[in-house]
Amino acid sequence: MAFGSNRYFLRTAQVAIGCLLTAALAGVHVGQAGQAPRPQMAEDVFKNVPVIRGIPVDEFMDTMGMFSAALSLNCPDCHVPESSKTWERFADETDLKIAARRMVTMVNNINRTNFGGEEFVTCYTCHRGDRRPQVRPSLTVQYGVPMGDPNEIDIFPDTAAPPAEQILDKYIAAIGGAQRLAAISSFAAKGTYEGYDTDHTAVSVEIFAKAPNQRTTVVRLFEGNDSVRTFDGNGAWIASPDRPVTLMPLTGGNLNGARLDAQLSFPAQIKTLFRQWKVAAAVIDDREVRVVQGINPGQLPVNFYFDDAGLLIRVVRVTQTSVGQVPTEISYSDYREVAGVKMPFQWITTWTNGQTTTKLTEIQPNVAIDAARLARPAPARRPQ
Ligand code: HEC
Ligand code: HEC
Repeated sequence: MAFGSNRYFLRTAQVAIGCLLTAALAGVHVGQAGQAPRPQMAEDVFKNVPVIRGIPVDEFMDTMGMFSAALSLNCPDCHVPESSKTWERFADETDLKIAARRMVTMVNNINRTNFGGEEFVTCYTCHRGDRRPQVRPSLTVQYGVPMGDPNEIDIFPDTAAPPAEQILDKYIAAIGGAQRLAAISSFAAKGTYEGYDTDHTAVSVEIFAKAPNQRTTVVRLFEGNDSVRTFDGNGAWIASPDRPVTLMPLTGGNLNGARLDAQLSFPAQIKTLFRQWKVAAAVIDDREVRVVQGINPGQLPVNFYFDDAGLLIRVVRVTQTSVGQVPTEISYSDYREVAGVKMPFQWITTWTNGQTTTKLTEIQPNVAIDAARLARPAPARRPQ
């Protein structure tokens, strides 16, 4: 699975750092005076990207996530083994990279010549997690019990279900009610974090949030080195020593995702976040749950999952990349009361490049937060 790929990131972070010359740049081009900075494009940062270019670095990394997920390959399976030590060696040619490039062109042709250029076919359509797509139908699948995927975004509305409004009202009531929620306008939290970037060792994490939509997460990756992720109410960035650029602006679906994470820190506003809602049913861990899908024009839908008690237990959102959509799942648990409001103390974030677990030990409501904490972070330092 793609998770295995994750180990290499830490090694990259510890050993390799500062390798890509361009990576020393901060990840944004400072535009002409008065112009908004534009994010660095893949071809500004990477050396050997004749096919996947013209997209920002964060989206480029998501295309790599799509490749890994669609074929169940780890990053160094397509790249040379030395890529696990240095970003630079990702540029080396391999047979699988050449095959993957050919496939990108093929997929674009299939969609253009058969589906009016719409993205009906992606790497996943054929590969479905296998390096070699299967050619013969499987009787086991045909006669087996169909496995529904609760994360499916193309949902069939459940006409017998209560309206979305009612489910969202039940959620607000279940976590403490609008009045108590309105009384929390900021919080600071502490706990532990583990994931690919810490080699699955628990390290300390701090979260700062301010209503209605600012949020910063600081992970102490290793001594003296933080990985910072911020949504400042407008833009979002990841400043981390283990990324190809030391300040990576988030764009497209990643930016929308960062905004949503910040907004959901103050969930009383949930009903205002989407123009349109759909309701469906799904099964998670053998329990039937309500799926409420939020839809905004021009954006990909977001699924919210509520349990019997009305609590939000999962969010699934998708990001568009140049080679198809990739999902992110956040599963919330361990709800505890903070100033009369139930807040999740644990969540697991899973996406095509990895999985991380955050466990909080305390949340302090209504603390003053230094404005700099919630603003664009400084580029990360590469360890020497
Ligand atoms: C199925 C094969 C495949 C997998 C798996 C894969 N890559 Fe790639 N990678 C490619 C191809 C192909 C390119 C070149 C893209 C182009 O030609 O525009 C590339 C290019 C890159 C580059 C740019 C290097 C440079 O300087 O030119 C980086 C960085 C990279 N990949 C990182 C990753 C990471 C991290 C992962 C795991 C999450 C990963 N790749 C998984 C096929 C793959
Ligand atoms: C229309 C079906 C189809 C789609 C879509 C597709 N592939 Fe393939 N792919 C194949 C088949 C079939 C093979 C095996 C060819 C062979 O065995 O020589 C293959 C082989 C590969 C291989 C070589 C595997 C190996 O072990 O040598 C790579 C890498 C690959 N595909 C990547 C991709 C990527 C990346 C995408 C999306 C951009 C993609 N494929 C989309 C059908 C597809």
